[in-house]
Amino acid sequence: MGRAFVYVILGGGVAAGYAALEFRKRGVSHGELCIISEEPVPPYERPALSKGYLLPEDPARLPSFHTCVGAHEERLTPKWYKEHGIELVLGTQVKSADIRRKTLLTAAGETISYKILIIATGARALKLEEFGVKGSDAENVCYLRDLSDANTLVDLMKSCSGGNAVVIGGGYIGMECAASLVINKISVAMVFPEAHCMARLFTPKIANYYEDYYKSKGVKFIKGTVLSSFEIDPSGKVTAVILRDGSRLPADMVVVGIGIRPNTSLFEGQLTLEKGGIKVNGKLQSSNSSVYAVGDVAAFPVKLFGEIRRLEHVDSARKSARHAVAAIMEPDKTGEFDYLPFFYSRVFTLSWQFYGDSAGEVIHFGDFSGSTFGAYWVNKGHLVGSFLEGGTKDEYDAVAKATRLKPAIEDVAALERQGLGFALAI
Ligand code: FDA
Ligand code: NAD
Repeated sequence: MGRAFVYVILGGGVAAGYAALEFRKRGVSHGELCIISEEPVPPYERPALSKGYLLPEDPARLPSFHTCVGAHEERLTPKWYKEHGIELVLGTQVKSADIRRKTLLTAAGETISYKILIIATGARALKLEEFGVKGSDAENVCYLRDLSDANTLVDLMKSCSGGNAVVIGGGYIGMECAASLVINKISVAMVFPEAHCMARLFTPKIANYYEDYYKSKGVKFIKGTVLSSFEIDPSGKVTAVILRDGSRLPADMVVVGIGIRPNTSLFEGQLTLEKGGIKVNGKLQSSNSSVYAVGDVAAFPVKLFGEIRRLEHVDSARKSARHAVAAIMEPDKTGEFDYLPFFYSRVFTLSWQFYGDSAGEVIHFGDFSGSTFGAYWVNKGHLVGSFLEGGTKDEYDAVAKATRLKPAIEDVAALERQGLGFALAI
């Protein structure tokens, strides 16, 4: 039993939604395109899950955040896919892929064949068990990657109002969930191994600002350590988190955000991998010319820095997906993907954006005791990265533009004095 399509998108997350919109804009015909997703709903804006979805009042719920509302584009509801003849194969896991035969085998035993495949399988949350800690399958421990995780988290927060939560991990999930827990009137202790939060991006000075802000909201930070085990009661619920030094943090619930692994396993041994992802060229095409990869799972050349990178952010998922479809549908008119990395987060009333690369010397600017401040990264004599908290739209646009231009910086002290003014003057 099987079906055949010209184009198949494997995965139904952010990248899949933006790829579908681009296919439609470029005139895909009815019946040519299919999306296969393990999730039971069409593509949605995943970032909502750690923000609006967790609000105690008037939370975001589907269908309001289906792609592509995050980029102020059309909202692709089930009706939209139907009207445009795009087949949604939902709630369906692909178990194996045969790149040579151009077929995918689903868990239900169906073979789906393609002429062109776009891999948009994203990533999975790393489990504590992978670091030797047992018990993260307890009912009051949750991860956050998809809608079903978010529903578990919402239910847990409702049952723990006024109680204690331990957040494991000081990255994006840890920081955004800690803020949501506080907003839901739950006391938070955050545990992570690094010396400060968001260690992959923030400088100690930037991290200090956010940690102080979180502390003012009652969040406790336990840094430079990891948990060693859970204390679990006879009903199977975690009651406390035990740290490496033996100390005990009482817990009514636990949220874990300790990083991700790209979903590449179906293609290992069939496609070239790099940096943990599927290696693609500037057209997002893998080592097999009929197969493209986009979003979190793709390792693509970032022209600006002359390097292959794998990014785990929504803007890159949206834009790489659109570029791949352009390259597939109009190969002669589509050049190399020329992407400026862009990350952002919003917590409480704070909001920051980052553009470029966090490499080289850091120059902080602005008022770290106020609400607008930032940093530039200067590498090999050029501005390569910019961070800004509390900026206006024009200010964010200016730092993005300045970073893309990679201007030569001869006088670092002058850059520090000019601060945001440097970007605004470009
Ligand atoms: P994504 O994970 O969105 O989709 C992958 C899809 O593939 C899923 O539908 C999955 O079920 C499916 N799949 C995988 N294997 C399959 C198989 N074998 N068979 C069938 N289907 C399969 N970024 C940012 O820049 N700003 C932000 O604020 C946030 N916030 C945020 C919050 C939360 C809670 C998360 C988890 C992530 C973010 N991100 C973010 C990151 C951002 O959401 C992420 O980079 C994109 O979702 C990546 O899009 P993809 O389409 O690549 O993967
Ligand atoms: P992350 O990589 O941002 O952070 C992982 C954190 O886990 C590290 O900072 C570290 O503190 C901690 N850690 C690692 N090993 C540990 C261990 N053994 N014990 C305890 N802590 C440990 O990953 P994440 O926060 O899990 O986020 C998952 C994904 O979701 C990422 O791809 C991220 O980019 C994405 N995301 C992005 C945003 C955003 O861009 N605003 C928001 C939410 C999620």
